[in-house]
Amino acid sequence: MITPVKIYNDHQALSQEVSKLIVLQVSEKPASVLCLAAGDTPREAYNLLRQLASEGKADFSTCTFIGLDEWVGIPPENEGSCAFFLHTNIFSPMRIAPSQVHLFNALSREPAMECRKMDEYIRQVGGIDLMLVGVGMNGHIGFNEPGVREDLDAHVVDLDETTQSVGQKYFKEKTTLLKGVTLGFRSIMQSRKVIMMASGKKKADIIQRALEGPITTEVPASLIRRHPQNLIMLDRDAASFLEGGSS
Ligand code: F6R
Repeated sequence: MITPVKIYNDHQALSQEVSKLIVLQVSEKPASVLCLAAGDTPREAYNLLRQLASEGKADFSTCTFIGLDEWVGIPPENEGSCAFFLHTNIFSPMRIAPSQVHLFNALSREPAMECRKMDEYIRQVGGIDLMLVGVGMNGHIGFNEPGVREDLDAHVVDLDETTQSVGQKYFKEKTTLLKGVTLGFRSIMQSRKVIMMASGKKKADIIQRALEGPITTEVPASLIRRHPQNLIMLDRDAASFLEGGSS
């Protein structure tokens, strides 16, 4: 199976194309179920999405938004949480109604139960139409860490050391990050489309391993190559270690 890889000149051009694809998705299916990653990679794409929505070029009023992952124990008011990121960058400025949003409750006393609720919710809304995922420095997708099982739905994870340390960048002060909740690879593979996005030189090595190395759970991002409707979108820096061509 050939994985479609699109390479753009820079982060801005990449973000523009990603935002256009999200707009296309909701114009083709206004009641789309979207699962959008938090993090630095898609931030500018979401800025552009907001602009397009404010110009009347995109309407998210009948979409449903599903959380991809969250740090267990971190409240949604904490600026490092995925919930805070999504509310600040997407939901609040685009006036998405709370009824349209279903995120993990990271403060639940029973995170495993939270995961079953998430699976059930996804089932009720008819599955995810489009996922936009970033790639961790260790190749994680959501919080599916190296060595993850491929047959899991939403689950609780022990965060890998790289994730614990890299994750500090989202927080104002040093924060203990031991566990996460995440959609699993079974949920990702059942999503109708997946866009995997990466930007910057620091991602070049893991992107090379994910796209040109073996498909292995040791590099979770490589598993995206098995998705039948996948699209990999990179800027030149993230693609700079790839040997194979570009488009
Ligand atoms: C965030 C998420 C993570 C990030 C990844 C890359 O919701 O699921 O897997 O996508 O860690 O993070 P950035 O984009 O900050 O480099």
